[in-house]
This record gives sequence, structure tokens and C-alpha cells, in this order.
Amino acid sequence: MADIFARKPINVIMNEANETGEHSLRRALGPTNLITLGIGAIIGTGIFVLTGTASANHAGPAIVLSFILAAIACVFAGLCYAEFASMIPVAGSAYTYGYATLGELVAWIIGWDLILEYALGAATVASGWSGYCISLLADFGIRLSPTLAGAPGTKFVLYNGHWENLNRIMKTLDLHHIDPASLQQTTSLFNLFGFIGIMLVTLILVIGIKESANFNSAIVVIKVAVLLVFLGIGINYIFGHMAEAKANWTPFLPPNGGKYGDFGISGIATAAGIIFFAYIGFDAVSTAAQEAKNPKRDMPIGILGSLVICTILYILVAVVLTGLVKYSNLDVPDPIAIGIDSTGVTWGSILVKIGAICGLSSTMVVMLLGQSRVFFSMSKDGLLPEWASKVHRRFRTPYISTILVGFVVAAVAALTPINVLGELVSIGTLLAFIIVCAGIWVLRRRNPDLPRAFVAPWIPFTPIMGIVVSFYMMYSLGTATWIRLVVWLIIGLVIYFTYSRRHSRVQRGILAPNLAPGDRTAVEPVARP
Ligand code: ALA
Repeated sequence: MADIFARKPINVIMNEANETGEHSLRRALGPTNLITLGIGAIIGTGIFVLTGTASANHAGPAIVLSFILAAIACVFAGLCYAEFASMIPVAGSAYTYGYATLGELVAWIIGWDLILEYALGAATVASGWSGYCISLLADFGIRLSPTLAGAPGTKFVLYNGHWENLNRIMKTLDLHHIDPASLQQTTSLFNLFGFIGIMLVTLILVIGIKESANFNSAIVVIKVAVLLVFLGIGINYIFGHMAEAKANWTPFLPPNGGKYGDFGISGIATAAGIIFFAYIGFDAVSTAAQEAKNPKRDMPIGILGSLVICTILYILVAVVLTGLVKYSNLDVPDPIAIGIDSTGVTWGSILVKIGAICGLSSTMVVMLLGQSRVFFSMSKDGLLPEWASKVHRRFRTPYISTILVGFVVAAVAALTPINVLGELVSIGTLLAFIIVCAGIWVLRRRNPDLPRAFVAPWIPFTPIMGIVVSFYMMYSLGTATWIRLVVWLIIGLVIYFTYSRRHSRVQRGILAPNLAPGDRTAVEPVARP
């Protein structure tokens, strides 16, 4: 009878991580690459879109406090990720940490759950990317047929001689008292740009980790530059128009409107839950651990460095944005563009669209990178078929799983209306945070003497706070999202009990993967919790 709580011995994990040769991943990333990888994943839809919505509907100028609150939650989890990634630097991230500490079933659950964060996260971002591309092309007079401009069911109306996404122009129609039913309508069948975006990213990921990291670094420079230009123009304007800015910042925390989350203190918490999405991605750095030159030293630098840089940028952007524009006017798809426009700089909105397109591309790169690396590790352990960890001889990337993941994610991005998927990405990520925090705590008690290149401070306070704050945010995400999470996990359990448990190397006592037949080494007996 298999022991579904069998743990994978840490010495075996470390041996695998140190494998070299053409079947292993290439160690090519230094600390700067890892920080840019983190920033690449983090800055995306969250800051470019959600800041405005959350401020206008929940927190007002106090959105800056929501950013601080969400950052605190991420810091607790980030410290735990940093300790794990420096101690067990393997591609599987939370999945492998779970395998080493809480046993195979929990590891499977977390690996399955990470699909929500990485694959679904990439699909969600691809849909935003597509929206920005279409809108930028329209600025240059190039218009895509509405049939190919959105997921099936997305409504378009013929307005002023052009097909426009109904959601995007609803406000304008309201303003002009136009009933959408009075306009000619059509619906989309396929989100072409969402599909193309993911396939292009997949191509880069197959070609190589160094190429992917370089592409990411170049793009990170552009998106950070766009935010810095916004800050420069904004701060300059605010210093010249202090009275206007003070009026926009007042009231700093609009009073609660009688409902939970409708401004007031609860509004700050609700907004923090929404903009938590803006921070997702720092953990993805840990999936590149097997491709880092010196993971023990550099993983904490990559994870915590990118988190700190993005937190500072986000807080500054939130302060400046709410000083430039009255919060009630920020409920738009491109709040940062509205911010620059309000200073009289006319090229602002094109600049922001370019920044967002770049920003979202690198988020897709790192998310898909993370997904294929988690599959790589699960396959090495026998929980997924062997082809998922097959490394390309020349490119040294797990090309089959990268292509397969890319194709499925591209199809999801092209065919699924994505409005609720963002919450599913958040709940999946928060569950991963909880398991990682619990794992750090367990390992400190069980193996206190293991060498830890980075030691998370204040144990058990840090992991407990990581768990409590993450659970609180999961709780605030609503019943429908919880039901989707549970259904997803049930599907995962069916696969585990019908396939993975029988093929698990840990269960079979074969713990040195991918050796030539006859060369297999049975190592220490399977550990029990
Ligand atoms: N943090 C990433 C974003 O905001 C997921 O798009």
C-alpha cells in the first residue's frame, strides 16, 4: 500500500539539483537576472489596470495603504520562499518544498494548484495584453475584425463607424445617453492576439533560458522606465500645483458607504485583496533556482530584491496617481495614462500602452517559465509522464512541456472569457503561500541543523503571519472562487490516485531520475512524516 504522505529526502533533492550535462537545465542566471526575472513577473496588469479600479471603488487615495498591506503579506511569504529557495534550490519551487516537508499528497496538491497561478495567470495576463495591443493599433488606425478581437461572447458595437468593445465604451455611451441596444452588435469568436502573444512567448522559452532572461531584462527596463517617466512627470506637476494635488488627496480615506469594502477601513482591506494580484510573481523566481549560477546566495536576492523594488515603485505610483486625478475618475482600463494626460502631456497614453504591452509580455514569460519548470520537477519525480521533463539537447530547455503548456494556455487565453480568472489565480497563489509558510515552520522543527544559506527571521511568527494573512485574503475572495478551487483540486486528486501515485519514484524507492537503465540507484528508504 503506497504511503501518500511519503516525503522526498532532502539529500536526494539536492543531488538532483546538482545534476549536470545535456539532460539538465543550464545554469546561466546571476543575481541581476534573477531580480529582473522577479520584476518581469511582478509588474503587469495589477499596477497598470487594477490600481485605478481599486482606488475608485474601494479605498480612494488610501489605496497607498492597501499597497502597503498587501506588501506586508507578501513579505512574510517572500521570506519563507527565500529560505526554501536558498536551502533547496530546485526548479519545482513550492511543489518540491512541499514534497520535502509535508509529503507527496500535499506536494501533488501544490503542484496542481500552481497551474492556477502560472498557467492561468499567463492566460489572464495574455487577455489584458491583447486588449492593449488592439487599442494601440487602433490609435494608429489599424483595426482588427471584432470576430478575432476577444474571447467567445465578448460583445462589440458599431459606434462612430468602428467596432468597439462594449465594456470599454459603456461609460462613453452612458455619458451620451446612447442605448447600446440601438447600435449594431456582434460577438467575438477568438482572441487572436491572446493566442499569438502566448505562442511568441513560448517560442522564446523553448530557445533558451539565457535568451528568455535577456528578453525579459530588456523588457523590464522599458516597463520600469515607463513607470519612472510617469513618476517624474507626475511629481514635477504636483510640485507646481500643490493645491490641486491636496484637493485630490482629500479625503484621504473616504468614509464607509454602509457596506463592507465600500471605502473606510474595510475598503482598504478589500482593495488590498484586489491589488494583491499586482505582487504575484516574486515567487516565480524560485522556479529558476536550477538555472541560477549560485542559487544559495542569489535566490533570496532575486526574490526579496524584486519584491522590495516593486513595492517602492507601487507605493510611489499610487501616491502620485491619486494626487494627479480625483480617485473617483480612476475607474478606467488605463488609469496611468489618464494620470499622465491630466498633466497636459499628450503622448502619455501611447507611452503607457507601450509600457503595458511590454510589462505584460514579461509577466507572461516568467509565468510560463514557472509552469514548465514545475511540470519538469513533477515529471522527474514520476508524478507526471516522462516526456514532461525531456530537455532539448541544444537549447537545454524542457521543450515538450513548454510547447504543450504554451499551446494549452494560448487556447485558454483565446477561448475563455477571463473576467473571473484573476481571482482564481489569486486564490491558487495564496494557497501556495500557505503551504510554503507551513513547510518552513515544519522543517525548522524537524531539521533544525540543515544548512540554510538564508534564514527567515522570527520563526514561527513569520510563517504564522504569512499563513494568517494569506488565509484572510483567500477568505475575502468569495464563494464562487472557492468552489472553483475545490473542483480544480478534486480533478487533481483523481489524476493523482489514478496515475501519479502508481508512477511515483518515491513510492517505488527509485530516487535517481533519468539515469541510464541499469544505472538506477535506490537511495535511502522513503522517509515517513
Ligand atoms: N503581478 C502580475 C500582474 O500584475 C501578475 O500582472
